Amino acid sequence: KTLESGKVTWESPSNIALVKYWGKKKDQIPENPSISFTLTNCKTITTLHFYKKENTNVFSFDVFLDNKPKDDFKPKIETFFKRIELYLSFLKDYHFKIETTNTFPHSSGIASSASGMSALALCLMSMEKQLVGDMEQTYFNNKASFLARLGSGSACRSIEGDLVVWGKHGNIEGSSDLFGVKYPYKVHENFRNYQDTILLVDKGEKQVSSTVGHNLMHNHPFAQERFKQAHNNLNTLMGILESGDLNAFIAIVESEALTLHAMMMTSMPYFILMKPNTLEIINKIWSFRKETGLHVGFTLDAGANVHVLYPENEHARILEFINNELVAYIENGQYIADKIGLGARQV
Ligand code: PMV
Repeated sequence: KTLESGKVTWESPSNIALVKYWGKKKDQIPENPSISFTLTNCKTITTLHFYKKENTNVFSFDVFLDNKPKDDFKPKIETFFKRIELYLSFLKDYHFKIETTNTFPHSSGIASSASGMSALALCLMSMEKQLVGDMEQTYFNNKASFLARLGSGSACRSIEGDLVVWGKHGNIEGSSDLFGVKYPYKVHENFRNYQDTILLVDKGEKQVSSTVGHNLMHNHPFAQERFKQAHNNLNTLMGILESGDLNAFIAIVESEALTLHAMMMTSMPYFILMKPNTLEIINKIWSFRKETGLHVGFTLDAGANVHVLYPENEHARILEFINNELVAYIENGQYIADKIGLGARQV
């Protein structure tokens, strides 16, 4: 089939890892398997316009964020195109206009790479599907995730919901280093509509990019132990997802978050992405949990923001706690109420 011009739009969510990916090999292959909750409200909406062109020797594209030209996104997209050229033969046949927008505030410290790269990968897969004709849904999803991985590792976990595994794990059938797959086993109803309230502690530019952070895991003194631990934690988490043991869930997830940051603090050079208010919030969560017995826990990304995780049925009291006790530690009292989600969709 041939396509002269057209457009396609996808919206794709962010995700938050429970067992973290930190450290990678060549070609964005993770050093250890990870698992994440797909989110609902934090998402990127991308429209890809395509126009067949004459010169097929170069990539050609323009990028717009919120309707304004965004030339500083171009190098990252150029790199992405180079990496995926081998897998999408039509890339140099078209001029692209990429229009993108995020539902979360720009430079809020919420990384848009997972939602942004997955949305773009999905748009390109929709083109591929139109060009080849029919395509099986599983193939479509796997390849979209495969391409997204080459844009940003964690982006490969944003295609589907509600729990996604990326990285080969001996006990998880179908798991792969090459793409994310929907967690294939039964999950206890305690995790249904699990809540994630994202507290925006620091909106400043990150001091150390995740690319640099991943690379510091090479020759890291604790790397091998950490990779083993991630395998074990994922194994333990599998049992927890089945039994619905929320205390055990919190213990694994909080330990994973602190271990991620411990790896940063013990690499050479070392760095700290948490801020004083990150620790204030963590301590408040711990004392509130001790006092009330409610199942509130936290996780962290590669930044200072705190993801407050809790089951839906405890939502009222925990939100009250957030509003009364935690907002004092966040910039302009800003937080994002999010929850576990179902994955990307074509608009
Ligand atoms: O996808 P990247 O290369 O930006 O790596 C992000 C890694 C963490 O967010 C810190 C952890 C994870 O598994 O998402």
